[in-house]
Amino acid sequence: MKKFNSTNKKTISLFWHHATAYKRFLIPLIIFVPVTVIVMSFVQPYIMALVLQKISQKSYDAHNLWGSFGPYIIVYGIATFMSGVAGWRLNVWLIWNLELQMTRDLAKRTFDHLMNMSAGFHANRFAGSLVSQANKLTGAYIRIADATVFNLYTLFVAMIATIVILAPRVPLYAVTLITLSVIYIIGTVHFSKPVRDANTIEAQAQSDQTGYLADSITNVTAVKSFAAADYEKRRYWQVLSHTRNTGLASMRATMIRETYSSMITSTIGVSALVIAILGAGVFKANIATLFLIVSYTAQIGERLWEFQNVLRQFNRGLGDASDMVEILQIKPDIKDPEHPEPVKIIRGSIAVESMNFTHSENTEALFKSLSLRIKAGEKVGLVGRSGSGKTTLTKLMLRFSDIDSGKILIDGQDITKITQDDLRSHITYVPQEPMLFHRSLAENISYGASEVSRQEIEAIAKMAHAHEFIEKLPQGYETLVGERGVKLSGGQRQRVAIARAMIKNAPILLLDEATSALDSESEELIQDALWKLMEGRTAIVIAHRLSTVQKMDRILVMDEGKIVEEGSHKELIRAGGTYADLWNRQSGGFLDE
Ligand SMILES: Nc1ncnc2c1ncn2[C@@H]1O[C@H](COP(=O)(O)OP(=O)(O)O)[C@@H](O)[C@H]1O
Ligand SMILES: [Mg+2]
Repeated sequence: MKKFNSTNKKTISLFWHHATAYKRFLIPLIIFVPVTVIVMSFVQPYIMALVLQKISQKSYDAHNLWGSFGPYIIVYGIATFMSGVAGWRLNVWLIWNLELQMTRDLAKRTFDHLMNMSAGFHANRFAGSLVSQANKLTGAYIRIADATVFNLYTLFVAMIATIVILAPRVPLYAVTLITLSVIYIIGTVHFSKPVRDANTIEAQAQSDQTGYLADSITNVTAVKSFAAADYEKRRYWQVLSHTRNTGLASMRATMIRETYSSMITSTIGVSALVIAILGAGVFKANIATLFLIVSYTAQIGERLWEFQNVLRQFNRGLGDASDMVEILQIKPDIKDPEHPEPVKIIRGSIAVESMNFTHSENTEALFKSLSLRIKAGEKVGLVGRSGSGKTTLTKLMLRFSDIDSGKILIDGQDITKITQDDLRSHITYVPQEPMLFHRSLAENISYGASEVSRQEIEAIAKMAHAHEFIEKLPQGYETLVGERGVKLSGGQRQRVAIARAMIKNAPILLLDEATSALDSESEELIQDALWKLMEGRTAIVIAHRLSTVQKMDRILVMDEGKIVEEGSHKELIRAGGTYADLWNRQSGGFLDE
């Protein structure tokens, strides 16, 4: 195939690379498929031809049919059963095994890769379409493997066998067959190019459609609350119509190719008859040869026709695989150092030194030469307007993105010098929107901590004031929380997240608005739990509600990526700046000290 683009080459080499890991299935397959094809499609007609020959020459004993034909029947019987029953079962067994191993390996490779990609990578992609691309990759492998083994390889074997058997007898036949087959293959490949392009566009449209569906369904609450269901339906209809149009384009291209291909196979069929007749007249071929010409030609005709299917499966398969194969080429943008240092984090002092950082899609830097020191064990409150950079600052400390210049040090150690796992296992992070798995509450609470007993889980849940509501659920700690925890209220989810944080024993604690969704009453309860959680740890607590950070050692006020004020609550109130303004507004003008 001439213009084979580089993604397709990568796909084939990926599949081949994984297949060669299972030589115990691959090698027998390469040997037994031709044996089966030859016995079934060539030995059988050959014996039949010999029998016909004998009959036409009347060189048999009419009173002893078994004596004349017995050996033929026995050999024919053995060939039929060996190939039809045993041969193909063995081949199917081999390829099925290979495919099961391979799809598992490919799925693992994809999953591992996606798990290693950074948060930034995932933020730019629909989870739904990644899921469908991952599934399509394994589906593509099965398509391509089946087509290669059962169609492409058998066609190749059949061509060789036909030529070897018939070329010495009727050279004209061999020449004609080869010529027409070459014309057939070149033409079919040529007309497959538009089909391939149309299939790629169709695959993209289907993937977008799946992504759109997943996006709308995940956000169905937003859709309903904006009364936008009709709008979504109209847009989805457009998406569906686009997919259909790409399907129609695929169909048109396919029809053109099939018209061409059927013209050539028909020509081959007619030529075979003409040559058989010429064979009788010119080459003095006997009836056995004529029978072989006709039956082998029918064989080849069928397999050539199937060659279109090979191309179709290859087109579909390569189209389906391309997205994920491209993704597999992307190197994770946050890399562990080649020679990671052993971790020195013990107490968790944090130093940010002249840090510059710009979000990848933004033009203006968010942090310009920001410096910040937090002592080990210090409890720092971080406040500021929405969009001022608080969340980004915590994510940079976790190395969810790399900074442009400057340094972030923890206990004096540059966080880029250790592995990401080492760094993150020393930090407990409660994000703004805590993520819960569709697993039991017990699993969600103990996530990331190994070997925690049910008693410990319950004790922690009590501290986080999550136990009260969990107990009331019909399945208690075994309740599945629904995809991303949607079955829980925001406050309940946060309490589960706080309990999860309490179980993890790390020297640094980053809480991003971890109590924002709690009502004042439960917040008061949790305050006390949070203080226990912070004990002996370095903590950065981002809070929208200032009462949450009032008692912190130090409060930082952030605005547009800069720290504009810092000090204790009292100092900041006395200074009468931004913080004091905010405080007066939040407590309704009454300072409750
Ligand atoms: N992944 C991102 N890509 C581009 N810009 C971002 C991204 N995340 C946040 N920002 C931008 O960075 C700024 C700071 O955001 P953030 O750190 O979330 O602020 P805060 O937590 O204080 O509300 C905002 O202007 C926001 O739009
Ligand atoms: Mg934020």
